[in-house]
Amino acid sequence: METIRIKIKSALGELSCEEEQGLRQAGELIKKGGLVAFPTETVYGLGGDALNPDSSRKIYAAKGRPSDNPLIIHISRFADIHRIVDQLPEAAVKIADAFWPGPLTMILPKADIVPRETTGGLRTVAVRFPSHPVARKLIAYSGGYIAAPSANLSGKPSPTSAKYVCEDMDGRIDMIIDGGEVGIGLESTIIDLTVEPPRILRPGYVTQEMLDRVLGKVDIDVTIIDPDSGQAPKAPGMKYRHYAPKGSLTIVEGAAEQTAAYINEMAAADRAAGRKSGVIGTTEVLEQYRTDVVKCIGSRGDEEEIARNLFTVLRQMDDEGVESIYSESFSEKGLGQAIMNRLLKAAGHRVVHLPGRPNAQGWNRNRMEP
Ligand code: TXA
Ligand code: MG
Repeated sequence: METIRIKIKSALGELSCEEEQGLRQAGELIKKGGLVAFPTETVYGLGGDALNPDSSRKIYAAKGRPSDNPLIIHISRFADIHRIVDQLPEAAVKIADAFWPGPLTMILPKADIVPRETTGGLRTVAVRFPSHPVARKLIAYSGGYIAAPSANLSGKPSPTSAKYVCEDMDGRIDMIIDGGEVGIGLESTIIDLTVEPPRILRPGYVTQEMLDRVLGKVDIDVTIIDPDSGQAPKAPGMKYRHYAPKGSLTIVEGAAEQTAAYINEMAAADRAAGRKSGVIGTTEVLEQYRTDVVKCIGSRGDEEEIARNLFTVLRQMDDEGVESIYSESFSEKGLGQAIMNRLLKAAGHRVVHLPGRPNAQGWNRNRMEP
């Protein structure tokens, strides 16, 4: 299939007639059962008609995604939620007031109109009202309900620009809307409102602290804080290997200088073995690294910058054919919880803790979790 590509230059401002026309055409494609990738404020989505079971089947096929992993339904007006949910608890209205439109997804009991194909067979439905103006227009033009996972091939990092959508989806979908780089860079926070107290199933830009402030107390899925809990994550998608670059990624936790020294030592061993090495580092430490490739994820003090760059630097490691990737570790407070959640998944939870200075036996790697 030939994939049409359109560009929206003024993604956050007034649209030109041509751009408006392009979005209308995209809406028509979705209404007819086609698939269109589009920008949102979090990551690019791969959209189809959420109320059409065939569209959902096509989405799973295009992504190579297991069909038990449900899709998020995107709306462009709060009032549209009533048609797709069976009940709207007061907590949902409260957090919609506080965070919608924006990077938050709510799990609610589903209405009969929502096909099981869209919810991966579940009786609940994930709903999100994005703030990105292009996303909102497209949703409105396509009938009001777009099912959209992130627009990457299953298992790969979510796309933060149209370039990476093209890499994964060219020839597999009807259209790609290029709206430039996304603002947040990590997928929406998911909160389950079918349990009491509400529970975060995927951390994101809307943090636990922000939700606590509006709802009193919210829980967090134990599998997010303890990957060894032995329990299955409540968001089916969180159980799959995810965000993974092609190279093997190791997170190194320790003081800045120690971390750089350890990574340089590993990179020397990689070089001797003929493996290309790369590091994901912060501005403050960057010049200490001696790996073949050095990518800056942002300044340690700026979590939003780190979030925005994470998936991009993972993709860049693939672009440059890096085989051994090392990353600094980050605090798990606030937005850091979402950053570390994605980074740990990308690394398959491979973390090296550097508790102190190296001793005679070399680096302490006892706590390495392969
Ligand atoms: O920011 C985002 O949320 C992006 C943009 C495109 O909106 N979308 C996105 O979708 O990240 P996706 O499909 O990549 O991730 C959706 C996650 C999956 O982990 C899925 O298992 C979970 O949401 N999910 C969807 N419906 C669910 C439900 N009814 N119950 C529990 N988890 C659900
Ligand atoms: Mg995804």
